[in-house]
Amino acid sequence: MKVTVVGAGNVGATCADVIARNDFVHEVILLDIKQGIAEGKSLDIWQTSPINMFNTRVKGVTNDYAATKNSDVVVITSGLPRKPGMSRDDLISTNAGIVKSVTEQVMQYSPDTIIIVVSNPLDVMTYCAYLTAKIDPSRVFGMAGILDTARYKAFLAEALNCSPKDIQAVLMGGHGDTMVPLPRYTTVAGIPVTDLISTEKLNPIIERTKKGGGELVNLMGTSAWYAPGAAAAQMVEAIIKDEKRIYPCCAWLQGEYGLKDIYLGVPVKLGTKGIEEIITLNLNDAEMALLTDSAKAVKEVMGVLDNMKLIA
Ligand code: LAC
Repeated sequence: MKVTVVGAGNVGATCADVIARNDFVHEVILLDIKQGIAEGKSLDIWQTSPINMFNTRVKGVTNDYAATKNSDVVVITSGLPRKPGMSRDDLISTNAGIVKSVTEQVMQYSPDTIIIVVSNPLDVMTYCAYLTAKIDPSRVFGMAGILDTARYKAFLAEALNCSPKDIQAVLMGGHGDTMVPLPRYTTVAGIPVTDLISTEKLNPIIERTKKGGGELVNLMGTSAWYAPGAAAAQMVEAIIKDEKRIYPCCAWLQGEYGLKDIYLGVPVKLGTKGIEEIITLNLNDAEMALLTDSAKAVKEVMGVLDNMKLIA
C-alpha cells in the first residue's frame, strides 16, 4: 500500500508523520515544489522510525510526480495557509490554481487513487479537485469534519473534566463559521451531553468550535497543523484498513438532506472504496435550517470557483 501526501508544509508533514507512526502502509511519498523541503522532512521522519518503532518508508521528492505512481490514497495539502484577518475563502484564487494543477498531475500517475483534499477553502477546493479529476465522487472528498469535531470534543472534555476518548459527536456543514455542531448527537460514554452540561455552558463551546481555526491563526500567525494533519491521517487509515469507520467528511451530495450538487460535511462510512455510504440523519427543523444556511454559504464560494472558469 502506498500513500502520497502533496505539500510538505506543516499540515502535510504532520500527516505523513502520523501515517508513518501508525505503521499501516509500506510507503509514504511526501512531495513539495520547494527544492529539498520534502526530502528533508521525510528523512527527519524516517529517522524517528527506530524511536517510534515503525516500518513505513517515508520518501520525499521535489515535484516528481512519477514517484507517486500507483498511490492508493493521495492527500492534497498544497496551497497558502491563512494569515490573521483572512477568511478561508480569501484563499480561493491562489489555491484553486494550485489544487487543479496538483490534481491533474496526481491523476496522470495514479488514475485509480482516492483523493483527500485538505487545502482551503476546504469545501470548494474539494469541488475543484473533483471537477479536475473527473472521477466518481466516492473517491474525491475533503477533510474538515474530523478536525472540527475534534476541536468540539477537546473543548467539551475540558469543560466537563472528562476524557476526550469518551466523547462521541457529529458535526456537519461547511468548514467555516457556518459549521453545525449537533448537541443532540453528542454523548459522553453514551450519556447525552445535554444531561451533563447546561445550554448556557454548551453554547459558547459551539461558538468557539466554529471559530476554532481562526483562534489558532490569531495565536500563531498561520493556520494549525497538528490536528489537521492527524485528522487527514485518520481518514487515510480508515480507507487503507477498510475500517468502515463513520466520520464527518466533505462529500458530494446528490439529494441527501435535500441538497444537490454541493460538497458539504456529512457523516459518511469510509472503507477501501472511499466513501461507501452517506449517512442520512433525521435532523429536526432547527438543525436542518442551520445546515441549509451552511450549504448556502458554501454554494456561494463554489459559484466563485465556477465563475473563474478555471476548469474545462
Ligand atoms: C483549520 C484550517 C486547517 O481549521 O482550516 O485549522
